[in-house]
Amino acid sequence: MAKKLAVLTSGGDAPGMNAAVRAVVRAGIYKGYEVVGVRRGFSGLIYGDVFDMNLRSVSDIINRGGTILYTARSKTFMTLEGQKKAADFCRSIGVEALVVIGGDGSFRGARALYNQGICTVGIPGTIDNDIACSDYTIGFDTAMNTAMEMVDKIRDTAQSHDRCSVVEVMGRHCGDIALETGIACGATSILVPEVPYNIEDDVITKIYDQKSTGKKHFIVVVAEGVGGVEDLAKYIENRTGIETRATILGHVQRGGAPTLRDRVMATAMGVEAVELLAEGIGNRVIAYKDGKIVNFDITEALEMTRIFDKHLYDVAMEVSI
Ligand code: F6P
Repeated sequence: MAKKLAVLTSGGDAPGMNAAVRAVVRAGIYKGYEVVGVRRGFSGLIYGDVFDMNLRSVSDIINRGGTILYTARSKTFMTLEGQKKAADFCRSIGVEALVVIGGDGSFRGARALYNQGICTVGIPGTIDNDIACSDYTIGFDTAMNTAMEMVDKIRDTAQSHDRCSVVEVMGRHCGDIALETGIACGATSILVPEVPYNIEDDVITKIYDQKSTGKKHFIVVVAEGVGGVEDLAKYIENRTGIETRATILGHVQRGGAPTLRDRVMATAMGVEAVELLAEGIGNRVIAYKDGKIVNFDITEALEMTRIFDKHLYDVAMEVSI
């Protein structure tokens, strides 16, 4: 009987997840596996929602946003009972190896299954770029480019009306989308959870300074983890007299065709995950570090602390004057 490999996507979806699924399926078949797709993350393993995949199951998906496997955050799987049920189901259909595409929570799930005897490898797929062991997560580039396009549009109307626009971009604990989008859109101010801020010094004074040199419209980019964009917009309007609007970009950032970078990264990471499993190595997470695809022990990876790029933040501040 051929060895069986399963693949699932879990947590928030991210553009490029399909490209990763495609790579896992194709590399798996190339290595002699039978490949099974699992629907809706770990809950698919609990409820037995799986299907056989072949080379053609993943045709025409490299360019598609979302995930053909669907995704979910399973509460049942967080219990030991749920994890045992999922592992037993894997064994019942002969699955010995599993690739989990998602974020930190998904890697905790992958580790739990490994502890139940299933060989698992994680691939970082989340738009937030908040996986400490990896310089890059699948979906980040697409999300930033979407956010940039949206802020560019907001900027047009802010310019026409001599307004200030406060824009919230995604990122619960991580300000990377805000930082890079803010730089790319020439924001006056960028507020991220990693850098403490003072509204007077970091927003109002900057608007006044720029206004004094002739600038008439302003963009303030705020990470979701900072939040409060409606209140901030009112505060800016009251303090400066400049008409101000707030926009929350939201889930538009999670959709759309993945960029070249996300497709290539997803492909390289997917193939690497299968290589490890084929060698019988599990409980690892694939990462992109210093320009190379590498891997870490899941526990080690989860214990790492993410380092915010303060230098890039300082660069942004230096030019937003
Ligand atoms: O982790 C990705 C992310 O898009 C975060 O930026 C955001 O906070 C969260 O997921 C929203 O998740 P959902 O609306 O799917 O629960």
